[in-house]
Amino acid sequence: MSDRVKVMTLIVLAVSFLCYTLFLYKENYSSNAEYGTMADKGKRLWQEKNCNACHQIYGLGGYLGPDLTNVYSNRSEAYIKHFLQNGTNIMPAFHLTEQQMNEMLAYFKSIDSSGNASPAKLKPNYDGTIER
Ligand code: HEC
Repeated sequence: MSDRVKVMTLIVLAVSFLCYTLFLYKENYSSNAEYGTMADKGKRLWQEKNCNACHQIYGLGGYLGPDLTNVYSNRSEAYIKHFLQNGTNIMPAFHLTEQQMNEMLAYFKSIDSSGNASPAKLKPNYDGTIER
């Protein structure tokens, strides 16, 4: 390859790189962009408020409070809301807005439909699979 071709290739690559970079950074990405389902937002809230410090989901998390994987089907929405609004002498009150409360409930509903908090209640089959 002659020097002229090498220099031309380098220039083409450099210009392409600059154009691509400009194209990418021209887009205005807002960190507060709304995205995701209600359940996604509830999960984010769960992480922001650090509920996992005291509660488990699918058996993982802190052990001060109970596992909340199936809290949605075990308790009523009003019961869960009451805990979040008022807390107890161990659990702090979170004073969530109505919208945040509904997002949290959507998250509980989604994890409730996808997992079981008490593996002891699952019935193991001979082939290693399980039944609910
Ligand atoms: C400091 C520890 C702590 C944190 C943080 C915490 N909780 Fe709790 N939570 C508890 C304890 C302990 C209980 C059991 C009630 C009691 O003994 O006061 C409880 C009970 C609950 C219950 C009722 C469960 C049942 O079946 O009775 C719900 C629902 C709940 N918490 C949701 C949450 C959510 C959602 C968050 C995050 C926004 C959260 N908690 C953060 C300690 C905590």
